[in-house]
Amino acid sequence: MRASTGRGHGKLILAGEHAVVYGYPALATAIDRGVRVQLDPGPTTCPPALERVIASVLPEGGFTVSVTSTLPAGRGLGSSAALAVALVRAAAAARLEALSPHEEWQRVFSIEEHFHGTPSGIDQAVSARGGLIRYRRGPPPQITPLPSPDLRFVVLDSGTSGETSVMVRSVAAQHPSNEPTLRAIGELVPRAEAALTDPAKLGPLLTHNHHLLRRLGVSTPALDELVQLALDAGAYGAKLSGAGGGGVVLALVDEPDPVLRAAERAGVASFVCRPVPPDAEVP
Ligand code: MEV
Repeated sequence: MRASTGRGHGKLILAGEHAVVYGYPALATAIDRGVRVQLDPGPTTCPPALERVIASVLPEGGFTVSVTSTLPAGRGLGSSAALAVALVRAAAAARLEALSPHEEWQRVFSIEEHFHGTPSGIDQAVSARGGLIRYRRGPPPQITPLPSPDLRFVVLDSGTSGETSVMVRSVAAQHPSNEPTLRAIGELVPRAEAALTDPAKLGPLLTHNHHLLRRLGVSTPALDELVQLALDAGAYGAKLSGAGGGGVVLALVDEPDPVLRAAERAGVASFVCRPVPPDAEVP
């Protein structure tokens, strides 16, 4: 056993969250933030909140686990999937084990199930692969790589966390009466994909996706206000990203400064975020 490192990207869902759980396609991109896990032989220590998950993946022998993250946790930015990918990769590297993509998928999926109940797999797909993907849940999952778009986002943090498993269950509790809204989200995804190189076309589709998510009941007044704040400051479009119930709003911008300044005036934490290609280093 040897010291090792594993990395996983954070993500933004551009279109299709929640509907993706019901078999519709969704678009997600890796971002220039992520999680790094370092394993060093020694007495086993790890962040207490992660003890159960980490113990299930650690190689035999003692390991000190250090987690470094540039992703706020529980905000819809894929921090748990990025942690799971980083951990599985670090553990495999410590064992000098070459995992097939399928083996890596299964190990990460079991950690994601621990965190989220019944995930579609989109978070781990984009975290492990990087870049921009169209995703359809399996089995087997269909992961279609798409060219990384030259888009710029401002991410606005509502300051509260949504619990993915709770939000997914709340949508399930309304199924099948919410099927028309889920279908409308699914139908919007190919239109968003066709507009990836045209922010002026993509923006309104993102905002429309937000309104459909709101109709599903996964937005909050704070998220709706952040969408409006971004639009008032000149964003092409804005939506919640991820499970909702808290977390972040992504705003598609040409020039980030007006949205960043409006967020600062409102006391909202925000940062600029870019999609990254598959081979990008996790910062
Ligand atoms: C969470 O990032 C995305 C959801 O669609 C849940 C999932 O796909 O597992 C809300």
